[in-house]
Amino acid sequence: MVKHEFYENPRFHHVQHPLVEHKLALLRDSKTTTKQFMELAEEIAMLLTYEATKDLPLEDVKVDSPLEIADCKMVSGRAVGIVPILRAGLGMVSGVQKLIPNAKVGHIGLYRDHDTHEPVEYYCKLPADAEQRTLLVVDPMLATGGSAADAVTMIKKRGITKIKMCCIVSAPEGIRKFMEIHPDVDLYVAAVDRCLNENCYILPGLGDAGDRLFGTK
Ligand code: PRP
Ligand code: URA
Repeated sequence: MVKHEFYENPRFHHVQHPLVEHKLALLRDSKTTTKQFMELAEEIAMLLTYEATKDLPLEDVKVDSPLEIADCKMVSGRAVGIVPILRAGLGMVSGVQKLIPNAKVGHIGLYRDHDTHEPVEYYCKLPADAEQRTLLVVDPMLATGGSAADAVTMIKKRGITKIKMCCIVSAPEGIRKFMEIHPDVDLYVAAVDRCLNENCYILPGLGDAGDRLFGTK
């Protein structure tokens, strides 16, 4: 594994685990079907969520257990929001929801222009109480970093400060750009790949995440 300089940044989190590695191998495989791809994206999203929610605030609660009242802790009610970047981010939402069923879901619409590779915004709808929540912005791919950085900028413009970015596959170029633009935001990735190709696709990557999730190619 290449030890890039961003590993020194405490806001950068490469989630390394045998289960993540195993599921990533299956996700990259071009023989993986649309159904399997969706399931794997969901499962990796769950494993990323486990890491990204380590510092969620807890409340003391008393629970009526069979033998006595137990002093327990629970995640505060309005703790989390999920914000997928359309459209590929949708493939990660159910994984987060399985762990945090009460999380509200916002949506940000962005796509990369095919010629310029720059993100183009077309939609933003966040939960009404988003500023009270930690927003987990999810997108399977962090390539140039433009989409993720723009999505977080759109969220910050609405006065929201508690934001974490979760991606499955990333490129060093995108990590550097994202962390330069948003040094205050934690970034969680499952894989750091080699580089981008001339079309700004990640190598080795997994191809077009949106098309593989939704079977559009
Ligand atoms: C993909 C991906 C990210 C973006 C990453 O989306 O899901 O949003 O590209 O690239 P970047 O880091 O260079 O911005 P795409 O634009 O293909 O749209 P889609 O989700 O609708 O397929
Ligand atoms: N978007 C994708 O879906 N894949 C890449 O490799 C880069 C951007």
